[in-house]
Amino acid sequence: MTLELVVNGRRFREPVEPHVTLLHFLRDKAGATDVKYGCGEGVCGACTVLLDGVAVNACSVLAVQAEGARVETVAGLGENGSLHPLQQELVERGAVQCGFCTPGVVLGSLEAVRLGLAGDRPTIRRSLAGNLCRCTGYGKIVDAVEAYRDRQGHAS
Ligand code: FES
Ligand code: FES
Repeated sequence: MTLELVVNGRRFREPVEPHVTLLHFLRDKAGATDVKYGCGEGVCGACTVLLDGVAVNACSVLAVQAEGARVETVAGLGENGSLHPLQQELVERGAVQCGFCTPGVVLGSLEAVRLGLAGDRPTIRRSLAGNLCRCTGYGKIVDAVEAYRDRQGHAS
C-alpha cells in the first residue's frame, strides 16, 4: 500500500509492505536515524516516538498503522537548531553518556511531564521503566526531568 504520514512536519508518501515496522520506515524511508533500533521487540524504549502525541515503541507498531498520523522524533523537537529545554537539562546535568537511550528518554519523559506523570522522583522513575539506560544509573536523568518539569510549571 501507499503510506502517507507526516514526520517532524514533513509529509511522506511512500509505498510500504504490510510487515514493515514504523521503526524501519522512519529510519529507512524518512531518514529519521535519530530513532534508535535497540531490542526490536518492545523492551528497551530506544525507538520511542510520539505518534499523534502518544509515546509508542516504533518497533512494535506497523508502519501502516501510522497512516495519516503525525510522528515526532527527537530530531524534530528543537527550534532553529537549538536543543529542546529537556535535552538541555539532560546535557547540563550529565544525564547523557553514550546517548543511545536519550531520544527515547526525551520523548517518553516529555509525554510523562505533559500527562502529569512526573510529579515526584518515584513517579518519574516509574515513567522511565520502559526506557532502558545502561550508562547513567538514572539518577541524573531523573534530576533533568524534575528540572524540566519545574521549568514548565508542572511541579506537584
Ligand atoms: S527497539 Fe523498540 S523497544 Fe527496543
Ligand atoms: S546514556 Fe548510554 S544507554 Fe543511556
